[in-house]
Amino acid sequence: EEPFPTTTKSPVEGKTSVEEGPSGLPVCLLCTCLGGSVYCDDLKLNRVPPLPKDTTHFYARYNRITEISKSDFANMNKLKKIDLTANRITSIEDRTFMGLPELEEVIIRENHISQLPALPETMTLIDASHNNIGSKGIHKEAFKDMTGLLYLYLTDNDVDYIPVPLPDSLRSLHLQRNNIQMMHEDTFCNLNDFNYIRNALEDIRLDGNPINLSKTPQAYVCLPRIPIGNLI
Ligand SMILES: *[C@@H]1O[C@H](CO)[C@@H](O)[C@H](O)[C@H]1NC(C)=O
Repeated sequence: EEPFPTTTKSPVEGKTSVEEGPSGLPVCLLCTCLGGSVYCDDLKLNRVPPLPKDTTHFYARYNRITEISKSDFANMNKLKKIDLTANRITSIEDRTFMGLPELEEVIIRENHISQLPALPETMTLIDASHNNIGSKGIHKEAFKDMTGLLYLYLTDNDVDYIPVPLPDSLRSLHLQRNNIQMMHEDTFCNLNDFNYIRNALEDIRLDGNPINLSKTPQAYVCLPRIPIGNLI
């Protein structure tokens, strides 16, 4: 097999010459493009490649990406899902995802971010597990207006409070192995309205936190199930 040409000046004879972008190969030669999905897993990438404008699903798992900037996803109006699992990301420019009208799923697990970037109200799944997100790493009321949010995964971080208010749509809240030491009795339920039921939220994980769930017995009255954690 021929190695890829390092210069565009003399294309290999008998082969179709392909115009290269500034990053080398066009993205759909480097990655696999299928319909609206672009798969760039395990390619030793150290930045997000320029994506086709009609990309709906972008996968770049197991690469060496260290930074995400707003320009990486600028004007990607059809993008629904971004999966950057297992890279070396330390920073994401804060408003990177805010201009994306269709965005529903962001998976940035197994990276090194200390700040969860702002995310749009259209989100259904957020997975930022296995990062370094601490007390100041989540915006105030970050999830409040995400009325279709189903899954929020923040396992294995350094979060020290439950990020309220949580939307009624939420089904799963995974916060195991963080640093949560307390919660309020109105974290999940509404103490002024005992008819309030939070039907959807059936999967709360608080195990591996220094919290004693027995201290807030009224906190679970509206839930279909008691959170998993220490009842000591
Ligand atoms: C947990 O809280 C309950 C209720 O307040 C209390 O009886 C129990 O001693 C606490 N356990 C620990 C280990 O602090």
